Amino acid sequence: MGECKKYYLTTPIYYVNDVPHIGHAYTTIIADTIARYSRLKGIDTFFLTGTDEHGQKIEEAAKKRGKSPKEYADEISAKFKELWDEFEISYDKFIRTTDPEHIRGVQKAFLEMYKKGDIYKDYYEGHYCVSCESFVAPSQLVNEELCPDCGKPTRIIKEESYFFRLSKYQDKILDWLKNKKPILPESKANEVIRFVEEGLKDLSITRTSFEWGIKLPKEINDPKHVVYVWLDALFNYLTALGYGSDDESMVNKYWPADLHIVGKDILKFHAVYWPAFLMSIGYPLPKKIAAHGWWTRDGEKMSKSKGNVINPKEVADAYGIENFRYFLLREVPFGADGDFSERALIDRINNDLGNDFGNLLNRIIGMAYKYFDGKVTSKDVEKYYINELSEAREILKDLEQRTLWKMQLHKFLEELWKILSIGNKAIDTYKPWELVKNGELEKAAALIGLIANLLAMVIVNLHPVMPKTTQKAAKALGFEINAESFKNIMDGKLLEDFVIEKIPPLFPKIEKPLMKPVEKKEVDNLITIDEFFKVELKIGEIVEAEDVKKSKKLLRLMVDLGEEKPRQIVAGIKEYYNPQDLVGTQVCVVSNLKPAKLMGMISEGMLLAAKDENGLSLIRPEKRKKVGTPIK
Ligand code: MSP
Repeated sequence: MGECKKYYLTTPIYYVNDVPHIGHAYTTIIADTIARYSRLKGIDTFFLTGTDEHGQKIEEAAKKRGKSPKEYADEISAKFKELWDEFEISYDKFIRTTDPEHIRGVQKAFLEMYKKGDIYKDYYEGHYCVSCESFVAPSQLVNEELCPDCGKPTRIIKEESYFFRLSKYQDKILDWLKNKKPILPESKANEVIRFVEEGLKDLSITRTSFEWGIKLPKEINDPKHVVYVWLDALFNYLTALGYGSDDESMVNKYWPADLHIVGKDILKFHAVYWPAFLMSIGYPLPKKIAAHGWWTRDGEKMSKSKGNVINPKEVADAYGIENFRYFLLREVPFGADGDFSERALIDRINNDLGNDFGNLLNRIIGMAYKYFDGKVTSKDVEKYYINELSEAREILKDLEQRTLWKMQLHKFLEELWKILSIGNKAIDTYKPWELVKNGELEKAAALIGLIANLLAMVIVNLHPVMPKTTQKAAKALGFEINAESFKNIMDGKLLEDFVIEKIPPLFPKIEKPLMKPVEKKEVDNLITIDEFFKVELKIGEIVEAEDVKKSKKLLRLMVDLGEEKPRQIVAGIKEYYNPQDLVGTQVCVVSNLKPAKLMGMISEGMLLAAKDENGLSLIRPEKRKKVGTPIK
């Protein structure tokens, strides 16, 4: 780990049904940080990200916007890429599952599995969650219909499907999970192990009820099937390296992946299905799969309908991308859920970055100029301050093994901040101004040298988190951050003598929130298509209509819905219609409304009507329809 010659890491590929939000930025920034650290250590690193573009969810999202799936995927995929470029994410490849090379690779894998006898044809009948693109077993359903992961209603599907013999790999997967311990944090492994132990059913891996997906390999010759989007997506980690192409040198060089970073919601796909697919085609399994938690905003789940989804660009524009990166990594222990609040972000910037780090740098710049014309030397640091130096070196010892390679990035930063605190404490304890006053110039100069060296230790390690800011700080201390300086500093070499550079404060104090406040929409006014279909609408014909004497508003109607006998519906339309004009007209009726009593009369339905400043108008079919015809 970390000491290997190559390092291949990935983010999930993001669905293009929606624009990037903080969750996507979080995963990508973690991956970018690890990739940068790995490169800084001189490791040959390959960092993959991209977009997941097939499946029913994307097809429906595109349709809703009147676009073709490809047109829509092109548009949103470009938004992800633009954002990562703007954030200077150091990916080596951005893969799209609509890339022809990827499609070819998936077809090759499918054929391999098929030839091996791991795929057979059958029927799938059961629940499917389009939002998660996952098949849900009856025992997992919440309230007999909701998806256990996202809480949305599932759909019942019945279609011909090819199945993958997942059950065959159950023992091997368990063995791998238990012995190789690939899941980080380890606490997340138990849930996956339990899931496998409960028994793995064969997995449906093709769909026939829509078209937007990869066709089966032509050798199988079954054109109505498309590959299940998760099988398609997971193989991106191999196709990105050229699996299925004429040149598989990158596969040989970088596979197996050293790290897949994922959110907790998609751990099962990566830790159960993916290894099974790999075993089937005879490829080694990934070394680590790290699952992070979810972000909420001000304690609430983010959702489009609440209007509180965090746009990462908005945060970065207001506070700076590097400050935002620091916050995301420092605020929440990896694996735990986190809450984004602007207050917390401002506090991190003002306190951790401004006070602890920025001020320490400013203080030694000030003192170096005041007492020594800006000259800083490491000459006597060990002589006077060996305890402080040793304490800091102790913190750095195995730091990456203890924290970073285990994805404990918050801990990694916390430890670096202990080094800053040694520096801040040293100034308070030894009071350089008094040393100078007492004529102990050598000791005062050594103190500035100590602080410069402590800062250098922090700066090189912080570089993968805050690349530009740390480069500026390093420049002030007379060095540049690269693999060589990183190694020297980590090996305990002290800085060469240099003249410190005056730089403006790196973290100007933030006085007040800079983002525009969320306009809270209290009601969640979006419904799913399934929710809409819960409402039964039918064409009815008014066969009787009369005044409700005691009421100014109500008419009593008898409406024929093609049922045994007409229904009584009490409607508030008296001010707009004469009862006799209504008899014989057709109307639209909500026919599955719970019966209610209005002025003592049972009403068994409701008429659809529209009202504006010019009055009320019943909604009626353009042409007469058979009574009872459903409205869809
Ligand atoms: N396309 C699949 C992944 C296929 S990988 C072979 C997918 N895409 S996604 O766009 O829905 O989600 C991508 C990642 O974003 C997931 O790791 C998910 O956990 C993460 N997040 C989505 N919302 C999130 C938060 N609110 N907070 C943190 N991460 C969240 O799943």
